Amino acid sequence: MKRKSNQEIKQLKDWDRELIWHPFTQMREYQNAEPLIIQSAEDCYLIDVDGKRYIDGISSLWVNVHGHRQSIIDKAIRDQLDEVAHSTLLGFANVPSILLAKKLLDLAPQNLKKIFYSDSGSTAVEIALKMAFQYWQHKGQKQKQLFITLENAYHGDTIGSVSVGGMELFHELFRPLLFKTLALSDFNIENLRQIFLEKSNQIAACVIEPMIQGAAGMRLQPPGFVSAVRKLCDEFNVLMICDEVATGFGRTGKMFAVEHEGVQPDLMCLAKGITGGYLPLAATLATEEIYSAFEGSYPEFKTFFHGHSYTGNPLACAAALANLEIFVQEKTLEKLPKKIETLHYMLEKIAEQPCVKEVRQLGMMVGVELAKANGEAFPLEERIANQVCQEAIQQGALLRPLGDVVVLMPPLGIENYVLEDLLEILNQSIISVLSHKAS
Ligand SMILES: Cc1ncc(COP(=O)(O)O)c(C=O)c1O
Repeated sequence: MKRKSNQEIKQLKDWDRELIWHPFTQMREYQNAEPLIIQSAEDCYLIDVDGKRYIDGISSLWVNVHGHRQSIIDKAIRDQLDEVAHSTLLGFANVPSILLAKKLLDLAPQNLKKIFYSDSGSTAVEIALKMAFQYWQHKGQKQKQLFITLENAYHGDTIGSVSVGGMELFHELFRPLLFKTLALSDFNIENLRQIFLEKSNQIAACVIEPMIQGAAGMRLQPPGFVSAVRKLCDEFNVLMICDEVATGFGRTGKMFAVEHEGVQPDLMCLAKGITGGYLPLAATLATEEIYSAFEGSYPEFKTFFHGHSYTGNPLACAAALANLEIFVQEKTLEKLPKKIETLHYMLEKIAEQPCVKEVRQLGMMVGVELAKANGEAFPLEERIANQVCQEAIQQGALLRPLGDVVVLMPPLGIENYVLEDLLEILNQSIISVLSHKAS
């Protein structure tokens, strides 16, 4: 890493404060704090402009898979640069997007036969929603327009994906702009059956994050929930959309979370880990049945009129192919059980702390919920999980708060000893912020 002079660093910090509006960030607070500017990385460490190293405990917002600066992905992108950086998929094809389609569809649930590329988790979900809607229009069931969602769902920040979201803090303000949905509470399958009994002829699809709701604070679904949703969707002729944007690519211990319950969705959304955390790319996978409903002569207007400028970007697809190659070469999934066990073992210690209300884990996805020792929530203005994350930064790890939950999602490629260091930092950060509040 080429070290910057103090003057350069000061300039960067000033421009960052003056010019950049950061996502999901209260800028008044941000402006008053010292910005943390990342300059480079080594495996599972990020390094800031001052040379300080941090364990990337959240995989750079759940995208990084094998660690940073993976030589196989670096080389794949460089090699692709020698061919072409971008060409459109609207009516044309490019080499890496074809090769990736073959690899991804071979890995995905067997019923999924077609891939539609886009560039973020939100767009992958938008596309699934529009496909489901248009599918029923073509099938002559035009009244099937409603979507079933889960309470506390998060599917992204574009208007369609916000419509199927259920997080009060992020979504409520926008209600007047959103289309109507029916929300299912508490993963209650009997309620879902009831809704289907009353309205299934109006329902296009049921949208879920399978097994675990990430942004809701790592909320785990009861065993059997995903397969029960699949059964009901089959029984009542409703499409099932699984949003694997967060859970895909090994995060839950399996390549895709639906594998835990042997479920095959009708539409599946992928993004985040798809390129190993290198470049923006997303995919919506569909069944032959859905795809074929869009086939026809041009004047029938069955075409799916949707596409983005960077759809199927060759550089991103080359990175994604290399990402999958590392899964094979490094036996990433085979090595996971030991890491998941280490995580579990160390989390047991953290769970014993008086201000830890609950620890939730599925594979490498973890949420540590904080509360007063008597179980009451901390006052909102204390932003307790944020305080713990700030302390963790001081101690050399990047974590993220979601309400009163500290989220941990280390790269799958993290070495066991780095994972132990990360958990120790979390443990110490909780002690440092909360020990005086426990009594
Ligand atoms: C389950 C799920 N779906 C969709 C998204 C949106 O993805 P993106 O931020 O790439 O638009 C996220 C992001 O966290 C997510 O967790």
